Amino acid sequence: MEQVRSLIDILELSTEEIDQLVDVGTKIINDPAAYAHKCDGRILATLFFEPSTRTRLSFESAMLSLGGQVLGFSEASSSSAAKGESVADTVRTVSCYSDIIAMRHPKEGAPLVAAQHSLVPVINAGDGGHNHPTQTLTDLLTIHHEKGRFENLTVGFCGDLKFGRTVHSLISAMSRYKGTKIVLVSPEELKLPSYVKKEVLKKNDIPYVQTTDLEAVMPDLDILYMTRVQRERFFNEEDYLRLKDSYILTPDKLRSAREDLSILHPLPRVNEISVAVDKDPRAAYFRQVRYGRYIRMALIMKLLGID
Ligand code: NCD
Repeated sequence: MEQVRSLIDILELSTEEIDQLVDVGTKIINDPAAYAHKCDGRILATLFFEPSTRTRLSFESAMLSLGGQVLGFSEASSSSAAKGESVADTVRTVSCYSDIIAMRHPKEGAPLVAAQHSLVPVINAGDGGHNHPTQTLTDLLTIHHEKGRFENLTVGFCGDLKFGRTVHSLISAMSRYKGTKIVLVSPEELKLPSYVKKEVLKKNDIPYVQTTDLEAVMPDLDILYMTRVQRERFFNEEDYLRLKDSYILTPDKLRSAREDLSILHPLPRVNEISVAVDKDPRAAYFRQVRYGRYIRMALIMKLLGID
């Protein structure tokens, strides 16, 4: 079978390729009409075995904005998975109906298996607590527009660093840039998994600190990446209830923050950012949503080999 290029892990893209995607994403923002027919006649399939608003709809919006069409399902119960079909068979089938696939699955590694059986490129749209490369591309386009650079940034991650796949992917991506420093803020029980510390932070000699105290590190941060406590990945509801409100960002807590801090959040927000923060110019999370559409347009074009 001829190998097509998929995207399962953000590190499959070189930093040069990320720069190119950011560049194309920015060109699309400046002149969307020039891209309106780039994918005429092409079909994107969105296979979402787990709920999503932003990721699925932004993939669909991206393909429609390129002139293509979309099909798919938004929950496992409305697909043949409910009859016991394997991911491999679902993907073999769907790759006969589409030119590119975006797949979200609660099991780590499922999109990788899908890519091995697909005739068309597969994009990992989030696999369990593991990875979420297109959210990372969204985050990188946001960082580039907010800060103008990827180098010499101190990035604080706050909330559920254990199960938060967007955190794991963004730490991997940032670990390749000069001068990156990472600050990890979480309750003891939701600390960054040791495999990410070992294989990403230690391996790349990235300076990092771990703390439970957000306010103590606030003045050091260029970027604050807030995250939701991932209820669906907990084994029991009691632990979730105990930990869910560990960190709530309020205007008060931002008093010691830098003037040019950027606050990111992959969304959905539950309680962890008070709505009073939304009007602070440093709140970049709704701008971030908008960037998600454009970077996915750039990625779809790249994987389909369209200039
Ligand atoms: C994130 C995800 O699905 O991992 N959301 C997203 O893709 N925009 C974060 C989350 O669900 O908390």
